[in-house]
Amino acid sequence: MQTVSDITQLREIRRQWKVENKSIAFVPTMGNLHQGHLKLVKEAKKHADIVVVSIFVNPLQFGAEEDLDAYPRTIEDDKNALNELGVNLLFMPKAEDIYSRGLEQQTFVEVPGLSYMICGASRPGHFRGVATIVCKLFNMVQPNNAFFGEKDFQQLQVIKAMVTDLSMNLSIHGVPTERESDGLAMSSRNNYLNTEQRAIAPALYKTIQAMKSDIQSGRRDFSVLCAAYKTELAKSGIKPDYIDIRSSVSLLQPSHEDTVLVILAAGFLGKTRLIDNIQVSI
Ligand code: PAF
Repeated sequence: MQTVSDITQLREIRRQWKVENKSIAFVPTMGNLHQGHLKLVKEAKKHADIVVVSIFVNPLQFGAEEDLDAYPRTIEDDKNALNELGVNLLFMPKAEDIYSRGLEQQTFVEVPGLSYMICGASRPGHFRGVATIVCKLFNMVQPNNAFFGEKDFQQLQVIKAMVTDLSMNLSIHGVPTERESDGLAMSSRNNYLNTEQRAIAPALYKTIQAMKSDIQSGRRDFSVLCAAYKTELAKSGIKPDYIDIRSSVSLLQPSHEDTVLVILAAGFLGKTRLIDNIQVSI
């Protein structure tokens, strides 16, 4: 596996792949890779001749309250895992090259509507940071296909909308969430949990599973259902941020035409914010 930090070098390699008519699959990450990320890579391998993974802890998507410096960085382990999977190129750009004119001056990409609701309401500016870096990485890597986890369901919808709105020439693939044996969605943030919090954490998934089964049994009083399960979640020891039921396509409040809904939930264990979601066909 080749590791490249320099953007010009990446462009040169990309140019050569183009001459060779190679198709490119891309998995953008912030590192600290777990089985969820590796599943994205395995999926990517099925879709192209070349797999590129990026590791870049993007300052633009962290809020003022969120600790960018504390984000787990495990570069050597990450490299070994990617190498073993046969990734062709690891792109690890430097923040000063990515944001060469400084964060304050940075042109940004914003997907209105979708970026402001649900997680976006709790984390203002977060999806602007995500859309901007993903757009920039797409411009550098120029992939034919890119892969994102469904665990970050809203992020996936924001990226799909950006690709449509900006007429970008690539396909976006969502990959189902990878879970621990007790149901907890895999996430780099799980590393922040102490033993007691880790034991409580699966309650988030259990809550949305219970909601799914209520909906499948015919419940349609969604706001009552969300309020009731918010109380249940709080009893488990997770401080709810939100629990919401939305159309899985638009992320708007469900209408009578919607046949697939998504239950989205976020909650705090101490300072750690966990998110999860589950889709339900009605
Ligand atoms: O999901 C992530 O890890 C990040 O939000 C992404 C897509 C790599 C952008 O920084």
